[in-house]
Amino acid sequence: MEELWIDKTWNKIEHKLRQVAPRNQEKLPYTSVDGQFDDQSKNNVSWWTNGFWPGMMWLMYTATGDDLYKDTAIKGEERLDKALQNYDGLHHDVGFMWHITSGVHYRLLGDKQAKVRALYTANTLAGRYNLKGQFIRAWNGNGTEGWAIIDCMMNIPLLYWASRETKDERFRFIAESHADTTMENHVRPDGSVKHIIVYDAINGGVLKEKGGQGYGVGSSWSRGQAWALYGFVLSYIHTQKEEYLETAKRIAHYFIANISEDYLPKCDFRSPQEPVIYDSTAGAIAACGLIEIARMVPEYEKHVYLTPAVRMLKAMEEKFCNWDEAEDSILQMGTEKYHSDGGGRHIPIIYGDYFFVEALYKLKGNEQLFW
Ligand code: GLY
Repeated sequence: MEELWIDKTWNKIEHKLRQVAPRNQEKLPYTSVDGQFDDQSKNNVSWWTNGFWPGMMWLMYTATGDDLYKDTAIKGEERLDKALQNYDGLHHDVGFMWHITSGVHYRLLGDKQAKVRALYTANTLAGRYNLKGQFIRAWNGNGTEGWAIIDCMMNIPLLYWASRETKDERFRFIAESHADTTMENHVRPDGSVKHIIVYDAINGGVLKEKGGQGYGVGSSWSRGQAWALYGFVLSYIHTQKEEYLETAKRIAHYFIANISEDYLPKCDFRSPQEPVIYDSTAGAIAACGLIEIARMVPEYEKHVYLTPAVRMLKAMEEKFCNWDEAEDSILQMGTEKYHSDGGGRHIPIIYGDYFFVEALYKLKGNEQLFW
């Protein structure tokens, strides 16, 4: 039954992306407007989501071997080079931008220039480590020296890879140190997570929590939950440290307990019931993390993670996916950040597509890990 649904959905993805890829080869999309992808490559090349389109093309190439996807991925990676020229635009999201583009290109095909890009950006990420506070600084700009955000758990796999590639453990030490600090300060005992922690950037130590993109301080922004869930299982995969898997499982249990009966993810698990604000991206990211946890646990435990992952994906496929091949995006109903007045709400967002495709790619049995 699930196999049938997985095959049908994967076929829909393949059919749609065969049409969408050729007409978007020159773009780095973030959202789509009137059915057409926008393009961040000209005026916003440092934007943190610019790796997801080429990354999704690498997923498709890995799964199908079709050169259309490889060529589109490489074009996207080359467009990103402009971001490497603008030092002030480089932030901790270099992991999102280069690990699933250049990193995958190098790991799949051994491309030398791709390796250079991935190692330069790993050094950039490592350089953001604050020795006193033992965290990786998130963003640039005066006043944010002590800010760390949960999303960074998805950036540090670039560091684990860099250690293996260079046979230099410094990158891994920084990644593990950041993961340990995050485990201590972002993850609450009940498995919910805080989005932003402000540290004392000079002396170390927590100054305060900020609500960030969620409803507010003390709430539970679902995409932050999803970054943490997937990020900690990835740290486990790269290090084999049991506490990271235990943390990923705790966050997963909280996520599963808080998803509504219809399995459509809300933007914040602790916000007023009205207005109803969904965030499909949270569901797609969490599904990827749940599938990886299922791969890591004993046979009798797998269903605890796999069943809700598939239920979420099925619910979103039914209610939130657009399979019209004349329109560019697949997953609709993403939300940038919680706004009770509706800003940034219910739009297609490129990483929604990326993680939805990655989840189906995994369910189809593909084992090449992109992170
Ligand atoms: N990393 C920023 C976000 O998830 O919106």
